[in-house]
Amino acid sequence: MSSSGLPRGSKYKNRVSSGSFMTASTYPLCQEWKQKVENCLHLSELEEIRVHLLGKSGLITAELKTLGQLSHEERKTKGSEINAVRDYLSSLLTHKKSELEQKALEFRLTTEALDITLPIRPEKKGKLHLLTQVIQDIQNYFRDLGFQIVEGHEIDDDYHNFDALNIPAHHPARQNHDTFYIKDHPLRLLRTHTSTAQIRTLETQKPPLRIISIGRVYRSDALDATHTPMFHQLEGLVLEKNTHMGHLKGCLTDFCRHFFNVDDIKARFRPSFFPFTEPSGELDINCSREDGQLKIGIGNNWMEILGCGMVHPNVLKNCDINPDEYQGFAFGVGIERLTMLKYRLPDIRALYESDERWLNHYGVGSVAL
Ligand code: PHE
Repeated sequence: MSSSGLPRGSKYKNRVSSGSFMTASTYPLCQEWKQKVENCLHLSELEEIRVHLLGKSGLITAELKTLGQLSHEERKTKGSEINAVRDYLSSLLTHKKSELEQKALEFRLTTEALDITLPIRPEKKGKLHLLTQVIQDIQNYFRDLGFQIVEGHEIDDDYHNFDALNIPAHHPARQNHDTFYIKDHPLRLLRTHTSTAQIRTLETQKPPLRIISIGRVYRSDALDATHTPMFHQLEGLVLEKNTHMGHLKGCLTDFCRHFFNVDDIKARFRPSFFPFTEPSGELDINCSREDGQLKIGIGNNWMEILGCGMVHPNVLKNCDINPDEYQGFAFGVGIERLTMLKYRLPDIRALYESDERWLNHYGVGSVAL
């Protein structure tokens, strides 16, 4: 076979042996190209070989063109030889092609697959802060009793923080609220208690209702082991037609039992004064302080927990509610104080210091950061 049909510039140029066809597989050209096809690693290279052998300007076509110069007899033999070689090469190429395609597929499957057995990279996980845990617990408890959870306003005004709650200007009780006023807005302030949420709710909703509201309050107070200028309060309000002090006592005693996880906690309601409740009381629960260790729910000492009372008729009137039709009770309690008692924390400031060791110790669960 001549090499006249070789495309110019091909890397296979001048590699074709000459000779006459015997059987296709034993023919030297076939032997040589069989090797090349077998050694071929890429589909693109295989395609190059195919074009070089079987393409329009390939070797086989060139060979077929030489047939015209031969005698009838020679043409017959040589023609069938060339066809046999062509079929042989073409089946070699087809086999190799499917082999390479299969390999390429396997390669993609192994390299592109997501290895889900790999461990994830370690990442920092947060935990729920102790105050958040306490707030969630309280919310869940009251939600189960049919209380609605409402939001108040952290920046509020004189009216909602004082006047509407029956604490008019110059009322002596106002002096106890060391209030932060907003500069250049004398009537705007950071609320000093969550009782503002009572007014905000009663302005838009009418009784019967049961609500709690938890949020930050601000007082220009000392910063020491038991005081911070900002802390959280829980406010509760129940207004229904027949609500009386027995409900107040039962509701708050049960809450303390739940919160401190003590079944037979003793509760004492001590008379007190708040302008927005009448009568008003403070709730004490029993505790023991033996060996300097505070234990809630055992012993004969008392621990003040919260302020409460029956909603003052003036507060109801201020919100257009007829005090002869609806009555109810309200209570307010510091979340930090409850937390410190339950977890026996000696210093309130630990709650805000963001010391990772402390946070890890008291935090629970895990939350993505
Ligand atoms: N608002 C009161 C305080 O901040 C607590 C309280 C709320 C008392 C509701 C009685 C009723 O101290």
